[in-house]
Amino acid sequence: MKKIIVLSISALLSANLMAMDANATKPMGVKQEGIKYIKMLGMALKSELKAKMKEDKSGMGAFGFCSAKAEQITKDVNAKLPSYAKVRRTSLKLRNPNNKADEIDTKVMNEYVASIQNGTFSPKNIKVVEVDGTSRVYKPLIAKKVCLKCHGSNISEPLSKAIKTAYPQDRAIGYKEGELRGVIVSEIAKH
Ligand code: HEC
Repeated sequence: MKKIIVLSISALLSANLMAMDANATKPMGVKQEGIKYIKMLGMALKSELKAKMKEDKSGMGAFGFCSAKAEQITKDVNAKLPSYAKVRRTSLKLRNPNNKADEIDTKVMNEYVASIQNGTFSPKNIKVVEVDGTSRVYKPLIAKKVCLKCHGSNISEPLSKAIKTAYPQDRAIGYKEGELRGVIVSEIAKH
């Protein structure tokens, strides 16, 4: 009798521990890992953008830099990630057509837009979506004052010309402070 009780208690305990472990390492682990890659890309782009904006307040230098180097920086960051992981940016209104959103990206971004409109949005609202064995981790990017120089409604004449020349299909203008500019998404495949 005693033996059976001891056994069942230890079975219960280990089942419990396993459940806790699954909860602790699965959803949390993927989210944290995704955030890490999102930060790597975010920091790489932001630090360069900041430096270039400082050098030349008109934004022309920074624009030239972004249009020439953003894709390469994204590739370089991805090269540092494990083979099962990726990180990229996208938007509902694109500048660079290579950053095109798919259906899931669009759905997540529309949810962010809705939450901004109804006042429930928080920039800390990271979304995790499971897609065919891959976890996608989304971080919203809000249009800040510094972004409006190249994405706002009052873009200087030379900058506006440069944007139209480099991106004839550009739709990433007309933003106001506080609107959703896009997302950074990390995709982590089961491994
Ligand atoms: C100096 C001009 C400039 C500034 C300032 C700027 N961007 Fe951009 N942005 C660009 C250019 C050029 C691209 C297209 C090249 C690329 O990144 O692939 C772009 C692309 C993007 C994209 C990728 C989606 C797309 O439309 O292609 C996002 C997201 C983005 N910008 C967000 C921001 C945010 C957020 C800020 C402010 C923190 C910002 N940008 C500030 C010039 C700028």
